[in-house]
Amino acid sequence: MTLDWIRPADRVISLPSYPFARLDELKSRAREQGIDLIDLGMGNPDGSAPQAVIDSAIAALQIPTNHGYPPFEGTASFRRTITDWYNRRYQVELDPDGEALPLLGSKEGLTHLALAYINPGDVVLVPNPAYPPHFRGPAIAGADLHPMLLKPENEWLIDLGAIPDDVAQRAKILYFNYPSNPTAAVAPREFYVDIVKFAKKHEILLVHDLCYAELAFDGYQPVSLLEIPGGKEVGVEFHTMSKTYNMAGWRVGFVVGNRHIIQGLRTLKTNLDYGIFSVLQTAAETALQLPDSHLQEVQTRYRTRRDFLIQGLEDLGWSIPKTKATMYLWVACPASMSSADFALKLIQETGIVVTPGTAFGSGGEGFMRISLIADCDRLGEALDRLKQANITFAM
Ligand SMILES: Cc1ncc(COP(=O)(O)O)c(C=O)c1O
Repeated sequence: MTLDWIRPADRVISLPSYPFARLDELKSRAREQGIDLIDLGMGNPDGSAPQAVIDSAIAALQIPTNHGYPPFEGTASFRRTITDWYNRRYQVELDPDGEALPLLGSKEGLTHLALAYINPGDVVLVPNPAYPPHFRGPAIAGADLHPMLLKPENEWLIDLGAIPDDVAQRAKILYFNYPSNPTAAVAPREFYVDIVKFAKKHEILLVHDLCYAELAFDGYQPVSLLEIPGGKEVGVEFHTMSKTYNMAGWRVGFVVGNRHIIQGLRTLKTNLDYGIFSVLQTAAETALQLPDSHLQEVQTRYRTRRDFLIQGLEDLGWSIPKTKATMYLWVACPASMSSADFALKLIQETGIVVTPGTAFGSGGEGFMRISLIADCDRLGEALDRLKQANITFAM
């Protein structure tokens, strides 16, 4: 029975469905038709969390006090582990009491930060294309979104000079993310210096998503906003356990940086949730303390897949630069069709699932994102299917 006298709030009615929810529908339909899908759509790492992480979760489950409500702001031990990790990784000193806040996954924090800081009509600068919560969170909060169009000729870097002065003057928050989902672009250190200068000049809160901090290859080391002088005065940085540690289903992330900004988010969250199950916080501590050999193993896994797929796609006419980081390839679609049509054709004719670039905003048109979440055997199978279906870049 439909209840036509009760409508969801306008903020929900005005939201389009989440791009990956739409992809899920297409996948279910293809499965119903008996198609064996090779799913390279979501950034959902294959395989389980490291054994040491699982073991520590099992041990933590045996401790009765872990079964009660956790502290709102995360356990002191997890916050200390986060700030120790930061210090090791970036030589940045952070206070575990106020400059680090565990989250129920970084998506939750990114979206709630928008609710904590944006009033309806506030101007928010967001990249286009971008990871959807970077623009959907502000949209839910009623922001006046100003998209910063990213372009291949600018190596997908935000062009700060292209933001009109009056918009910059009114802007309250700028979201950004390097290494980037979906473009896999990375930003040089000078870019961070410039963006901090820009934020200070216009009094803008910087929200940097460093979710792919550790998925970097060929000696490249992603930059933290907080290692830039002045970065902590104007910004916060989000991290996740989902990618490097195959813990996407565990829902653990964290935000670090400016104490005042984190306090606003904390105040909102104490009214919304009870924090992360303590068992998961213990497991996340174990993950952040794993030896570097774990990191090397993960990086080798994604680098090997990257090289294999780039080579195979080159044989089919594509020319794809070697990405320095992330778990994605950002690949041009054949010029003859839109990215949504091409993604649909791939599912229907080959069973390969990719994400059309427009799932990340209009600036993603002409591209698709391929997640490197299958082993080389399965990627080889995907390449064979493309050949059999005569799908090439030049079609
Ligand atoms: C840029 C970026 N930030 C955050 C997330 C979500 O991370 P979490 O699982 O911690 O919510 C993703 C997931 O794909 C992402 O690509």
